[in-house]
Amino acid sequence: MTSPTSSRAAFLAQYRAVRDRDGYRRDSSGYYRALPSTPHTDPQHIVWQVRARSFERFRTMVRARFRGAAPALLDLGAGNGWLSYRMTLDGCRAVAVDIHDDERDGLGAGRYYDVRFARVQADFDRLPFEPRRFDVVVFNGSLHYAPNTRATLTRVAPLVAPGGVIAVIDSPMFECAETGRAMRDRTRQRFKRDYGIAEPIEPGEGFLLFSALADTARALGFDAQFFESCGGTRWALGRLAGRVRHGIQPARFGVWWAA
Ligand SMILES: C[S@@+](CC[C@H](N)C(=O)[O-])C[C@H]1O[C@@H](n2cnc3c(N)ncnc32)[C@H](O)[C@@H]1O
Repeated sequence: MTSPTSSRAAFLAQYRAVRDRDGYRRDSSGYYRALPSTPHTDPQHIVWQVRARSFERFRTMVRARFRGAAPALLDLGAGNGWLSYRMTLDGCRAVAVDIHDDERDGLGAGRYYDVRFARVQADFDRLPFEPRRFDVVVFNGSLHYAPNTRATLTRVAPLVAPGGVIAVIDSPMFECAETGRAMRDRTRQRFKRDYGIAEPIEPGEGFLLFSALADTARALGFDAQFFESCGGTRWALGRLAGRVRHGIQPARFGVWWAA
């Protein structure tokens, strides 16, 4: 039987290899400090354009809601911590959490930034924080790694202070589970073809469903809204080509905001 520790180590090793090949792991403070902005030459520029739009929306909403009050922000699945860095510059008291302490793609990348924020290596399903401690809890490109999204949100909700919010940013979102599974199957094929990974290790479903998130928000007493983000022309053309070739509706990305 595989222990949780060895399956996590295997997941992290595979994740690191894929992220390396996809061009996310760098060795320059300029790269990390500029995120989500990237030059046109970046291999993931098209993706980062969408992420930058989502981030701007999120930042504007946090500013409008907390108006200079230095909100406490919990960044779950923070990766290299770019959102915590940016929100710290914006006056938030950020805590970045990830299971991954990698020096380029995990919490260890904190060394690239010129302001400090708290970094905690932990599983977002087992968090070491007191109830009602955070004004903003954000999953940025990470909630779709949760084995059970509803259970994760239910565990996290008590950490939110009165008047606080939970935001889910840029996870692949679908109206229908069948479409989400079709997208996941295509990603698996790409891993096999391009990276030689026959058995991807996936802790979660790999996508989120609008209806499931809405039900969970309602059950937890939050009102949820979704603000969609779109990329540039190349992004739109890529999605159109994918839809024509595979007959599948592409995922939607953006800011899901529950207050
Ligand atoms: C696609 S990356 C996103 C990183 C960063 N938030 C960003 O937007 O660039 C997903 C992150 O979620 C983290 N993650 C996945 N499952 C997790 C868990 N159970 N607890 C904490 N972090 C987790 C991964 O280690 C990874 O850093």
